[in-house]
Amino acid sequence: MTTQPPDLKEIEKEAQDLLGECDTPRKLEEVRVKLLGRKGLITGVMRELGRLPAEVRPAVGKEANLLRERIEAALAEKKRLTSEEKEVSEPLFDYTLPGRTPWLGRSHPITQTIIEIEDIFRGMGFEVAEGPHIETDYYNFDALNTPEDHPARDLSDTFYVDKGILLRTHTSPVQIRVMEKKSPPVRIIAPGLCFRRDTPDASHVPNFFQTEGLYVDREVSVTDLKGVITAFARELFGPKIKVRFRPHFFPFTEPSVEYDFSCMICEGSGCPVCKRTGWVEISGAGMVDPEVFKAVGYDPEIYTGYAFGMGVDRIAMIKYRINDIRLLYENDLRFLRQF
Ligand code: DAH
Repeated sequence: MTTQPPDLKEIEKEAQDLLGECDTPRKLEEVRVKLLGRKGLITGVMRELGRLPAEVRPAVGKEANLLRERIEAALAEKKRLTSEEKEVSEPLFDYTLPGRTPWLGRSHPITQTIIEIEDIFRGMGFEVAEGPHIETDYYNFDALNTPEDHPARDLSDTFYVDKGILLRTHTSPVQIRVMEKKSPPVRIIAPGLCFRRDTPDASHVPNFFQTEGLYVDREVSVTDLKGVITAFARELFGPKIKVRFRPHFFPFTEPSVEYDFSCMICEGSGCPVCKRTGWVEISGAGMVDPEVFKAVGYDPEIYTGYAFGMGVDRIAMIKYRINDIRLLYENDLRFLRQF
């Protein structure tokens, strides 16, 4: 039994129409089955070849094989295109976009001030020492010749952690800790946090920074103390600054002074920061009391020394023209970004 040879042109057109419609991998698979599956169009053509008269069979067979190859190639190409399209339709990572700038922090103005203070004193031969925030009565008061009935030891002035254990009220205990470990000469500064039961206002906060200074050697005098404080002030604020020393009392120094820097905000004419006096109080200082030397086992007949405190917050306030100490501790980025 003979059959008419299949109209390969017509079949190819039909196949192309089917292929033209498929734009997703799923549709493409459906079309593949329609063309090359068991009951597929092309499969049907191949099956019919056997029923053709022997004379036409080789030529039609050759054409049919070529058609199948073309269809297979077209399917492969379609597959490539639809999978690329799928990738494109997913969210893109655009490598050409500028990167996100990493958020760089900066040092707090107090840290910047401490670093400057350390640099200046290192330049004058001082080493940097440290001590604990939680201290004993002994280091914070007794060894510093501060008697039991001193007002600073009152519960209303000092944060006690436990009986005899407290948050240090000044950096002076570092003097004792250093002298206990080392014999003279000693030349140190000790920056760090201190705590007092103060109600916050424009010039008080319950935690603040000091830098302690101590120089012990043979024949150290008040002149050395005045010289080093004045040299420090000039280095930090420039040659125009003036320093004044006023008599005062501290249990751990004799004689004792308080010292002020001329106000660099108003240059002496008077402003709210210097309370219109033209001077900003920095801290106290003096010649180390012989009782303190006795507490650490230094011979007061051989050695003399000076000590000083320094309010770091106050120095930062004059330096950066800050009129309220609380700003330094609020961690408000709008404030901190200015430094
Ligand atoms: N510790 C004192 C205070 O907090 C400051 C001070 C005064 C420190 C005299 C000293 C000094 O080293 O000699 O007020």
